[in-house]
Amino acid sequence: MSNDGVNNGRRRFLVAATSVVGAAGAVGVAVPFLGSWVPSARAKAAGAPVRVNVSKLEPGQQIVAEWRGQPVFVSRRTDEAMAILAEMDSVLADPESKASVQPDYVDPKTRSIRGDVLVVVGICTHLGCSPTFRPEVAPADLGADWKGGYFCPCHSSRYDMSGRVFRGQPAPLNLPVPPHSYESDDIIVIGVDQETA
Ligand code: FES
Repeated sequence: MSNDGVNNGRRRFLVAATSVVGAAGAVGVAVPFLGSWVPSARAKAAGAPVRVNVSKLEPGQQIVAEWRGQPVFVSRRTDEAMAILAEMDSVLADPESKASVQPDYVDPKTRSIRGDVLVVVGICTHLGCSPTFRPEVAPADLGADWKGGYFCPCHSSRYDMSGRVFRGQPAPLNLPVPPHSYESDDIIVIGVDQETA
C-alpha cells in the first residue's frame, strides 16, 4: 500500500490501532448480519484489506467487520439522519475532525466517501470500549435530546451518526475513519485508500 495522500492523522491511527487490539477483543459487539464478509485466517494475520458487501445494508442498519483485529462499523444512514448531521456542529467537540483521525478524501461532516455509508473504527477514543449503535431518535434510556448515534456503555460517551463525539464527554476525539475505498458500488475495501485503489 502506498502512503500517497495519507495524512498525519492516519499515521496516528495506525499507531493507535496497534495498541488497542486487546481492548477490542474483550468487548462484545452486535452483528446484525455478517455473511458477506469472510476473510481467511491468513489474511487476518497479515492485516490484509477486508472487503465488505453493503448491498443488503438498509438505511438505519449496521454491519460490524473486523480489520487488523479491530471492529469496524459500516452503517447506512437514513435521509433524516443525514439532515441532522448538518445541524450538530454547536454540540460537537471536533465537528470537522481537525484533531481526529480521518483520511483527507472523506467529507468533513458526513465523514464518508459517498454520503450515506459511514465506515469508522468501533473503538471508543476514551479507554477503548466498543460503542453501541443507537440510530433511533429519543429512545427512553438515552433521552429526548438523543438524535441517533453511538453510545459508549463504559463511561457514557456520546457520538453522532458520523462518529463525532459530543462536547464534554470522557472521549476526547471522534471515532477514527480507517483508510477505505470502493471496489464497486456495493463492495468497500477497508485498508486500501481511495487514491490508491
Ligand atoms: S471507554 Fe468509552 S467512555 Fe470510556
